[in-house]
Amino acid sequence: MKIDIVSVFPEYFEVLNLSLLGKAQEKGLVEVTAHNLRDWTHDVHHSVDDTPVGGGAGMVMKPEVWSECLDELLHLEPTTVTCDSTADADDTASADAAESAESATEIAANADAVPSTDRPVLIFPNPSAPLFTQQDATELSHANHLLFGCGRYEGYDARIPQYYRAQGVDVREYSIGDYVLNGGEVAVSVMLEAITRLLPGFMGNAASIVEESYTGENALLEHRQYTKPADWRGIKVPDVLLSGDHAKVDRFRRDEALAKTNELRPDLIEALDCSKLDKADRKTLMALGWEVSGAHPRQR
Ligand code: ADE
Repeated sequence: MKIDIVSVFPEYFEVLNLSLLGKAQEKGLVEVTAHNLRDWTHDVHHSVDDTPVGGGAGMVMKPEVWSECLDELLHLEPTTVTCDSTADADDTASADAAESAESATEIAANADAVPSTDRPVLIFPNPSAPLFTQQDATELSHANHLLFGCGRYEGYDARIPQYYRAQGVDVREYSIGDYVLNGGEVAVSVMLEAITRLLPGFMGNAASIVEESYTGENALLEHRQYTKPADWRGIKVPDVLLSGDHAKVDRFRRDEALAKTNELRPDLIEALDCSKLDKADRKTLMALGWEVSGAHPRQR
């Protein structure tokens, strides 16, 4: 997998040479290159931002610098695209706003769910985008080329993703959580780690990926883990885990995962497919107050 990252702080990504991702690069599983966006500027100040059109606080990243950079990294020729976003002179401001809200919804959908391996995927972290999930990480781990663009300041000009989508590029915008960071660098590190650890050969133990939280169709939070000693400072490991009875251990862990998910993330319980639950799962969920006779569990 080839990964390009564009940022005004490319040094931030030196940490990627450490740990498992560093090893994966040495093994040739991934090739990560961090580029400095300012290398594509032409003015003495190497400026990448400008004031927002329509007023407001902060600065917005300019489309011209980004497009020179992205055209080069994506091997695209500059062109002009026709978009119907130019409103008629007598259109009201609210019609304008509704129209752009509609296209924002379109953008938010990250339409190309499964990336085709031969097409690069251009990813912009953005606090006002859909949440990045384990499913997105899994899908993106199948791509051959990922290109991350890190925004700074108040963000980037909205026409940048719009233009590259119009060019047929698979463009995604993701938020990593409901909070605002100073820029996209941390968000890119998070997404990169979630994606690359899924690459075949990246992790020593592939089974640990299958078992962990948010993985698979019927995702639950993971059960608790213990190691030796069996009694530590007065706190004992649950007896069943020491029994050597694998079926009982599996059931205990599964029930614990169901109980923990019920308590912390009931939305994940509501998303379960009841047809994929076994008899013991149903019994546990019913004891936790769920109705399991429909397509998905419903709280009683
Ligand atoms: N940039 C700033 N905040 C962000 C967030 N929460 N997710 C993704 N990108 C961001």
